Amino acid sequence: MTSPSLAFRKCESLDDISACFALQKEVWCFSDVELVPVRLFVLAGKIGGQVMGAFDGPDLVGFALAIPGYRGGHPYLHSHMLAVRDDHRNSGVGRRLKLFQRDDALARGFALMEWTFDPLEIKNAYLNLEKLGAIARRYNINQYGITTSPLQGGLPTDRLVAEWWMNSERVSRLLTASPSPPFDPEAEIVVPAEVSAWKSSAETKPRAAQVQNAIRSQFLDAFSRGLAALGYQRDQHGNGKFLLGHWSENLAYEGGDHPA
Ligand SMILES: CC(C)(COP(=O)(O)OP(=O)(O)OC[C@H]1O[C@@H](n2cnc3c(N)ncnc32)[C@H](O)[C@@H]1OP(=O)(O)O)[C@@H](O)C(=O)NCCC(=O)NCCS
Repeated sequence: MTSPSLAFRKCESLDDISACFALQKEVWCFSDVELVPVRLFVLAGKIGGQVMGAFDGPDLVGFALAIPGYRGGHPYLHSHMLAVRDDHRNSGVGRRLKLFQRDDALARGFALMEWTFDPLEIKNAYLNLEKLGAIARRYNINQYGITTSPLQGGLPTDRLVAEWWMNSERVSRLLTASPSPPFDPEAEIVVPAEVSAWKSSAETKPRAAQVQNAIRSQFLDAFSRGLAALGYQRDQHGNGKFLLGHWSENLAYEGGDHPA
């Protein structure tokens, strides 16, 4: 359970935005050149995006940053960053920030929010697919090039695109604690728990790279067959498994010239 004293609100003052910037540095440990600058946080809030914070008393303990996008004639939100301070993780803050983003987005007429995530990150995949009801059916190879973040371990920045159709039957059912609409898994993609440790040491990094390559091929193949990642399972050893099938609702903004 989250602490009842947490407050969720938009970050509009420069103090709040500076706190988001500082938390970004703490969570990703990027070199300065890779940090999203304060000026972009300020702009995002002013041009129809979102800068949302979770506060424990006066302290910012989590934030989400989203910018507006446009595809196939429709506006949508691209959520670029979600971060929770280490000592506040795994108590629902990340999920609550996403739900706060959703409330604001729906109130302003957005139906779709997207973000990208590393398929090797088991926790993030579980949060996105199982706790929030996002789906994924696009795979971007080495989206940002090699970054300095230790979270990436020097591997190519491969990313799945999470599509969060915030008013879909899938999401609405999940958020009212009803079972997700059933689907027949037609493919499974396994992510070994050890991959995160393998990324962080020079001797084992080639193993992590092999796993990434294998997972990349499996996703590219599955997506070329029209499958989408719709479910995620974890086992008692911490391994993760994507479950892929055909998404019955199949919502899409077709015809966009910006497919990423
Ligand atoms: C991703 C992140 C924002 C999630 O925030 P959070 O507040 O810890 O998330 P929540 O508590 O709402 O949900 C996490 C869920 O994953 C589960 N989880 C925790 N560790 C896990 C693991 N190793 N494997 C699978 N699931 C895991 C939690 O138990 C929780 O599920 P539950 O509510 O069913 O118990 C946070 O971990 C973070 O800041 N990570 C670093 C930055 C990052 O990767 N951001 C996302 C990409 S931009």
